[in-house]
Amino acid sequence: MCGIVGYIGNRQAYPILIKGLHRLEYRGYDSAGIALIDNDHLKVYKAKGKVSDLELFAEQKDIAGTIGIAHTRWATHGEPTQSNAHPHFSQSEEIAIIHNGIIENYSVLKEGLIKEGYTFQSQTDTEVLVQLIEFMKNRNGTDLPTAVQLALNEVVGAYAIAVLERNNPDMIVAARKGSPLVIGIGEDEYFIGSDATPIIEFTNQVTYIGDEEIVTIKRNEPLRIKTIGNIDKTPEIQKLELTLNQLEKGGYPHFMLKEIFEQPHTLSDCMRGRVNVDSDNITLAGFIDNKEKFLNAKRIIITACGTSWHAAQIGMYAIEEYARIPVEVEYSSEFRYRKPVINKDDIVIAISQSGETADTLAAVELAKQQGAFIFGICNVVGSSIPRNTHSGCYTHVGPEIGVASTKAFTAQVTVLTMLAILIGKEKGTISHQEYLKLIRELSLIPDKASEILQKNDQIAELSKSFTYASNCIYLGRGYNFPVALEGALKLKEISYIHAEGYPAAEMKHGPIALISNEMPVIVIATQSDTYEKVTSNIQEIKARKGRIISVVTEGDTLVRDLSSFCIEVPKTEPCLTPLLSVIPLQLLAYHIAVVKGCDVDQPRNLAKSVTVE
Ligand code: G6P
Repeated sequence: MCGIVGYIGNRQAYPILIKGLHRLEYRGYDSAGIALIDNDHLKVYKAKGKVSDLELFAEQKDIAGTIGIAHTRWATHGEPTQSNAHPHFSQSEEIAIIHNGIIENYSVLKEGLIKEGYTFQSQTDTEVLVQLIEFMKNRNGTDLPTAVQLALNEVVGAYAIAVLERNNPDMIVAARKGSPLVIGIGEDEYFIGSDATPIIEFTNQVTYIGDEEIVTIKRNEPLRIKTIGNIDKTPEIQKLELTLNQLEKGGYPHFMLKEIFEQPHTLSDCMRGRVNVDSDNITLAGFIDNKEKFLNAKRIIITACGTSWHAAQIGMYAIEEYARIPVEVEYSSEFRYRKPVINKDDIVIAISQSGETADTLAAVELAKQQGAFIFGICNVVGSSIPRNTHSGCYTHVGPEIGVASTKAFTAQVTVLTMLAILIGKEKGTISHQEYLKLIRELSLIPDKASEILQKNDQIAELSKSFTYASNCIYLGRGYNFPVALEGALKLKEISYIHAEGYPAAEMKHGPIALISNEMPVIVIATQSDTYEKVTSNIQEIKARKGRIISVVTEGDTLVRDLSSFCIEVPKTEPCLTPLLSVIPLQLLAYHIAVVKGCDVDQPRNLAKSVTVE
C-alpha cells in the first residue's frame, strides 16, 4: 500500500524524504507528495505519477526545511490525481497529514464536519481525518498530540499517519493501527517509515510503533508514546538486521530479476540451521516449541492471499502426503467473513511475505478469538502477523522489492515442506529412510535452482515469440497444479496478458474450448505419478493445434517431442518439484513483460503489501 516517510533533525529533510520515497515506491506509485516546514511556512508539493514526477514538480520550488513528511500513494478513495495525493491540508492549512490505510467511517465523519462548515478539496478519507484533527484541536483548545488522540478515538479503520503543524516546527505526531510504522533513532534526529527501508541508510536503531499507539517526535527530546486510550508506553529500541545492499538492484535491470536470481542463495538461507544433512535432521524452533500441538492436530487450516495462497496449496499437498493431517487452504478475505468452524485441535497457519496483509491479519485475529493455535510463516521480521501469532517461522529471504513475488514464494514452499516432513517424521507417518532421502534432496535444491537460472538466455529468447499472445493457459497436476496457478499469476501481474492456471485433467471440462493455434499452453510435465496422464492431456491439446511450451525433467524425450518449446529442470522428489519448476515460469513472465515494455517492478494497479481490505 502507501509508503510513509518522515524526518526531523539538523539536516535538510527534502533529500532524505525523496530518497526514502524512492525506497518505498514499491508500496504504491500512482502519486506522491511532500510537506516541509521552514520559516513559519508549511509547504506542500504533490504530483500525479511516480516519485520522479514529484521531483520534477519540486525542481523550482523552495525545498528548505529540517522537518518534513512525504508519501507515495496507492489509491483507495479517489483517483490518482494531484488533489487526491498526500499530504492533505486541514481547512486552515495549519496542519498537514500523510496516511496509509482506510478510514472506514469517513463518510459519516465528513458529513459531521461539513455541518461544522468544513469544505473538502479531495475525495480522500485522509482529508477527513486531518480536518477532524483540526476540529478537535479548535473545539477542545488542545495541543496537536491530544487533538490527534481525540480524532483517532472517533475513527474506525486502519491507519499509519504522520502529522505536521505549521507553528510547531519541532514536532511530528505519528500513530498507527493495522498499518505498519517504524521510527528510526539517530543522533539528534528521527526518521519515520512505513517500513525500515528508508531508515536503514541512516541508523539501525529503531522502534516499532504498536497498534493504537501515538508517538510524539520532538527535536532533541526522547520519543513519547501513548495509546489512544491515554496509557504511556516505553519505546522498545531494536537493532535492524537489514543491510543497504539488500535494497539495491545490484547490477540487475529490475528487482524482480535480481530476486529470481537470488533464489539459490535465499533457499539456502531459508534452510540454514534447519536442514542439516550431516546430522540427518530438520529442526524448526517454532515446531519444537509446539510439538504436541502439531502431533495432536486434527486439521490444519492455511490462510493467505495471492502468491502466498499458492504456496499454501503446495503446503497442503505436502502436509497431507507426509503428515497425514487434513488440510484446508483458505483465501484470507473469504475465511474472515464466512463464519468458519474452527475447533480447538485445529492449527491455523497464516502465510504472508509482508506480514501486513490486512485480510490475513484479520483471519489471524478471527482464528485466535476462536481459540485456535496460530502459526505464522512470514518474511518481514517484526511485522504485524508474526507479532500476532502464537509461534511461527521466518522465511529469511531478505527484502522482496519487486511487486511480483518470487523468492518469497520458494521460501514459503520450503518452510511448509520442512514442516510437513518434520511432522511426518515425529508422527511416524513417513519412514526414516524416506525422511533421510527428503533431507538430502532438499539440501540439493539450491544448486539445482542455480542450474535452471543458467537457462535464462534461452527463456529470454523464447519469450520474444509470446508478445502476440493475449491469453495463455498454464497446466499442471499434483504438486505442479499450484505452480501452474502461480505461473499464470506472474504473467498476468506484470505483462497484463490474460492467463489462467488449471489442473491439467480439468482441461476437457471447459477450457479445451479455448484451444487454437493462437493459444500458448504452458504445461508443467515433470516426472511424477501423473506424468503419463499429463502426457495424454498434452496430446489432447496437440490434437487441437494448441502450442505447447513444456517444463520437463532433464532427459525427457516424450513431452519434448510434443512441445514447440521445452525447458528442462533437474530431477528431484515430486514434493520438491515446485521449488524448481516455478523458476522457468518466473523467468518467462519476466522476459515477456520486458519485451512488451511493461514496468516489471511496479506493474499497474498493484502494490507490494495490501494493508487494506
Ligand atoms: C499483493 C502482492 C502479492 C502478494 C499478496 C499477498 O497482492 O502484490 O505479490 O502475494 O499481496 O501478500 P503477502 O505479503 O501477504 O504475502
